[in-house]
Amino acid sequence: MKIILLGYMGSGKTVVGRALSGTIGLPFLDLDEQISAKEEKSISEIFETKGEIYFRKREAEVLQDLMQLPEDFILALGGGTPCYGDNLALLKDQKEVILVYLKTSLQELLKRLSGEREQRPLISHLNSAELLEDFIRKHLFERTYYYNQSDLVISTDGKTSEVIAGE
Ligand code: S3P
Repeated sequence: MKIILLGYMGSGKTVVGRALSGTIGLPFLDLDEQISAKEEKSISEIFETKGEIYFRKREAEVLQDLMQLPEDFILALGGGTPCYGDNLALLKDQKEVILVYLKTSLQELLKRLSGEREQRPLISHLNSAELLEDFIRKHLFERTYYYNQSDLVISTDGKTSEVIAGE
């Protein structure tokens, strides 16, 4: 079984994936880390030097390559991965794959993301609390349609990664 974690930036996909990997003993992979390693650049550098369209193309290619691997793993997607191109269809068409949406409220995301803008290229330019809230509210609304097509939804508000991994 491949366990795919999806959810907005700051929903805890990476920390929960690592905790779950420790609990159930499946290897953990992070899509952003894989893209970064292949490009030998941080995600912010890829956005800066090559732009978002290039990043989305690489994201889809690296996802396709990972999903062809025969072994089981836990994979944390990027926040936008299921919302672009055929990525969600590719994931939904696979056998032995479970999609888990880590659902986080707008208020919780604002708390988690307001101090982390710099390393996140999509929100790094939003230099006031109002702009950040406005952006995330709309963005989360658009993306929820895709996230909701998951097999399982786990609410993450107020929970530690260990508690979520135990659910
Ligand atoms: C993105 C989320 C990031 C990363 C990139 C784009 C998005 O991943 O893939 O900055 O579109 O929401 P995380 O959700 O792991 O932060």
